[in-house]
Amino acid sequence: MKTTGTSCVAVAGRTASHRSATRPVQLSVIIPTYNEAQTLPLLLQRIEAAVVGKDIPTEIWVMDDRSPDGTADVARRRATGVSVRVVEREGPRGLAPAVAEGLRYATGEYVLVMDADLQHPPEAIPALIRAMDEGADFVIGSRYAEGGSTRRFGFLRKLNSWGATFLARPLIPPGVHDPMSGFFCLRRSSLEKADIRAVGFKIGLELLVKTKALRVVEVPITFGARHAGVSKLGVREQFRYLRHLLGLYAWRFPALKQFTRFCAVGACGMMLDLGLMAALMSGGAHFGAARAWSVLGAMTLNFVLNRRYTFPDRRGPVGTQFLRFTGACATGLVVNWGLSSALYATLPGWRPLYPLMCAAGIVAGTFMNFFFSRSYAFAAAPSDSKRAQHGPDGAGVESDQRKRQGDQFV
Ligand code: GDD
Ligand code: MN
Repeated sequence: MKTTGTSCVAVAGRTASHRSATRPVQLSVIIPTYNEAQTLPLLLQRIEAAVVGKDIPTEIWVMDDRSPDGTADVARRRATGVSVRVVEREGPRGLAPAVAEGLRYATGEYVLVMDADLQHPPEAIPALIRAMDEGADFVIGSRYAEGGSTRRFGFLRKLNSWGATFLARPLIPPGVHDPMSGFFCLRRSSLEKADIRAVGFKIGLELLVKTKALRVVEVPITFGARHAGVSKLGVREQFRYLRHLLGLYAWRFPALKQFTRFCAVGACGMMLDLGLMAALMSGGAHFGAARAWSVLGAMTLNFVLNRRYTFPDRRGPVGTQFLRFTGACATGLVVNWGLSSALYATLPGWRPLYPLMCAAGIVAGTFMNFFFSRSYAFAAAPSDSKRAQHGPDGAGVESDQRKRQGDQFV
């Protein structure tokens, strides 16, 4: 037994089959396990049967979180024709961290992830490999592609699965039916530059998004009923999924994240504006002067917050940035005033609905203000373009922040 990182790794069965002794491993199968002692032996047997005759040199990584039911022992005892490595993890428990750690150990050209409870049919593995060989970036064992199905999925679980997929839709290539699947395969080399974050259950979705897979192929499977044990997908995991999704959106659409923060900052500015106004007026100030001071106060607060939270990676000289920000705000103001006035002038019949016209002005002005704040006041420094080569801008900064927080990465 040797120790790798914080986890113990043991090798069961023959270390390598007669074929893989001379040929490099083509396929690394990663199986996260928690209390799967009852099904694991049959799974290993069926994986072996699926790959051995097909000439696919394979290694298996059982990533166990010290299951109390002795899953690791069962896996170690199992002598199969393919090499089975059992890792007893010590890091943070969880499906995604277990898979992420397995991805670090894998040596195959392809990495394939599947569940231990036989809900993913091992017999489909050769079809997934074939699709990879034919040039796919990412292959999904899919329940929802034509020909796929799920057994004994209750109405709630179906609705849940549909909702989760719906929410992820803008993140994934069009036409992908089952991004939530835990049965998938990808090239190991595509992980090299990916900023993978191991959270929750949906590591497949994380990999699909972060490796920027373009050619996604789905192989229909029948998602079987659990043979034994219980599902670990509880309500807590579902909340964690929503948080995971937010992170993916922020990564995929950095401008959207900035815009959300920009609006939140704008709301703070508005509150300060109104508060100052009330204070100055009750102190007997002249309306015009009070208005000027509170607008200036709100704009200064907005500048400080936007510089700190909305565009933290776009630092420049404070004075210049402040002046430019004033320009961006003024542009927003002109657009706001111009659009609402134009609507008022050109749509006399709609004048009773003037608040709507003002709202249209506010929305357009906010967009304009954001656009100039982002591209002018807090413009990306030229060095940021290097980062953009590796991913959407801001990703590098985020990953640094996460590293500081001690999250686990591949
Ligand atoms: N190491 C480790 N640690 N493994 C875990 C943990 C954990 O904390 N929790 C679950 N697993 C393992 C299980 O032992 C199983 O092999 C696999 O992860 C999936 O867990 P299940 O509990 O069987 O999940 P499920 O059947 O509800 O969810 C499956 O379907 C989803 C699609 O609806 C999984 O395949 C998901 O990956 C998939 O997204
Ligand atoms: Mn399951």
